[in-house]
Amino acid sequence: MGKLVLYFSKFGNTESIAKRIAEKTGADICKIEPIEPYPENLQEVMEIGRNETDNETMRPIKQLEVDLSKYDKVILGMPTWWYHTPPCVESFLKNAALEKITV
Ligand SMILES: Cc1cc2nc3c(=O)[nH]c(=O)nc-3n(C[C@H](O)[C@H](O)[C@H](O)COP(=O)(O)O)c2cc1C
Repeated sequence: MGKLVLYFSKFGNTESIAKRIAEKTGADICKIEPIEPYPENLQEVMEIGRNETDNETMRPIKQLEVDLSKYDKVILGMPTWWYHTPPCVESFLKNAALEKITV
């Protein structure tokens, strides 16, 4: 069993911290990615993010490139989006709950 740093990051801040945590702890690392990417423009992402969080939308995500059953510790990293968990991470948590994975 091992450790995994799993993260969502749109603009790279969470990603840089996630990479440092993985380096320091020797954990594997994996990014949560939306199937349909967000635009690059911050204002557009702010607006889409607001709609998604207001409507409690779970943005569909790509299949993870890791097998979660290999890990006994998952460090989950994300930015705050409109005082909430970003919709991609909501999707991950919902999927994990359906698969009865404890995070
Ligand atoms: C859609 C959206 C909503 C955000 N909402 C908040 C918020 O409610 N509170 C906050 O402190 N920062 C908020 N931010 C700022 C991000 O949390 C911050 O810039 C973060 O470092 C971005 O992480 P990333 O570079 O890994 O994407 C928001 C950013 C975006 C794009």
